[in-house]
Amino acid sequence: MPRELRLGVNIDHVATIRNARGGATPDPIRAAVMAAEAGADGITAHLREDRRHITDGDIQRLSNEIDIPLNLEMAATEEMLDIALRHKPHAACLVPEKREERTTEGGLDVISGQAHLTPFVQKLTDHGIRVSIFIEPSENQLEVAKIMGAPVVELHTGAYCDAQGAQKEKELQRIINSAAFAEEIGLECHAGHGLSFDTVAPVAKIPTIVELNIGHFLIGEAIFQGLELSIKEMRRLMNEARGL
Ligand code: PXP
Repeated sequence: MPRELRLGVNIDHVATIRNARGGATPDPIRAAVMAAEAGADGITAHLREDRRHITDGDIQRLSNEIDIPLNLEMAATEEMLDIALRHKPHAACLVPEKREERTTEGGLDVISGQAHLTPFVQKLTDHGIRVSIFIEPSENQLEVAKIMGAPVVELHTGAYCDAQGAQKEKELQRIINSAAFAEEIGLECHAGHGLSFDTVAPVAKIPTIVELNIGHFLIGEAIFQGLELSIKEMRRLMNEARGL
């Protein structure tokens, strides 16, 4: 029997469009409620240091107004730790953050960052928040994530999504190998970044991955077919690939 594959819907870019005009619409919390109704298993939101999309008020409202798990993506900074401990989301995903980047360009380097990151994993865990670490699909990174005490890793799928031809197969293989290794060493494995209708199936097929977090494509596709149908189609493709 294939294992369930959860879909976390990232609503950051509803807030990006809202912030383009500085008003209240489109409301990312309305999108989160619709996503839950369309079958999302969780909502993911990244509160960036520069608040370019999600704001502190959004996190407050998400905490109060949605009844599916919230996964807060956050940089490992004292400011974000305070916010996470105040709201106690179901999960927190530690991500790298550079002010000048357009999006989260790669995974966290837990090898060079181990000393800095470990106390964040511990404090979040001590407060009952399930911690995941967003890393490149590499055994070395997974080994250190395990030592740091995080129960979950999320593999960055961006290189796979962007690659062409033979390189795409290579990048996919890295994800497959890393997801198998994660299970071997007792880590729950998630994946995300850049996934679309065209790229989701081979990742959804990997049996040791139990959650995908998808945002930009779904919000873009919502322009053409609406959020509900775009989420339902993603879910259909995930289930089909998984044999569910
Ligand atoms: N997972 C993580 C850890 C991310 O940082 C992001 C982007 O915020 C995503 C998943 C979703 O990526 P995308 O918006 O490209 O689907």
